[in-house]
Amino acid sequence: MRAHSEAVLAPGAADAGPAVDHHGLRTAWLAGRIARFLELDAATVEGVEEAASFHDVGKRFVDESVLSKPGRLDAGERHQVEMHVVFGAWTLLSGGPPRRLAAQVALLHHEWWNGRGYPFGLARLAIPLAARITAVADVFDALSEERCYKPAWPLRDVMAYVASQRGRQFDPRCADAMREVAARLPVDWHQQALGVSSLGSLEISSVPTLLQGDELSRGMHTRCFV
Ligand SMILES: [Fe+2]
Repeated sequence: MRAHSEAVLAPGAADAGPAVDHHGLRTAWLAGRIARFLELDAATVEGVEEAASFHDVGKRFVDESVLSKPGRLDAGERHQVEMHVVFGAWTLLSGGPPRRLAAQVALLHHEWWNGRGYPFGLARLAIPLAARITAVADVFDALSEERCYKPAWPLRDVMAYVASQRGRQFDPRCADAMREVAARLPVDWHQQALGVSSLGSLEISSVPTLLQGDELSRGMHTRCFV
């Protein structure tokens, strides 16, 4: 079993915490800059930003006590947290007009370049680029802020982690782009990122049918994560 401080870097709890509602917006902001650095076209950049903003929407179906737990997660709790990728994809495909790219990113943003992520263990180019971009933006932001189980990491430590996971957790090109984006971050980027007003709204019109009556539904709540 992993300590929570390790879990933030790995499948399971990369972005649980009290500020996670802003986390989606900041992740989207970072992902957009990574996408631009990779010279993706404007429409694709916009799509990546929107998709990244919804990457953790499935966490609204995970028990709040698990998401905010300061200590170690047991196997059942870890499973609950990991299920957020499935809940998120389901929500984005069934709660109104299908958002296919966002669903793809929600499902696959915890896959690792080396195949050791979840839920499928996809590797390298089998992971869609939008998910590879979101993965590094997600971890960069999660490490940069204080969470219930860890303090905010200094930028140099965050970048050291990203560098250490280049070619492991992260696509090398995306890790390199994240490094370039980080080198140019304005000091108030946390605030600037929250100004992405066109992102982060999603009407959840129905609870996924498979969850109704399921034991996970006992922990269901309406907290907004995007
Ligand atoms: Fe996540």
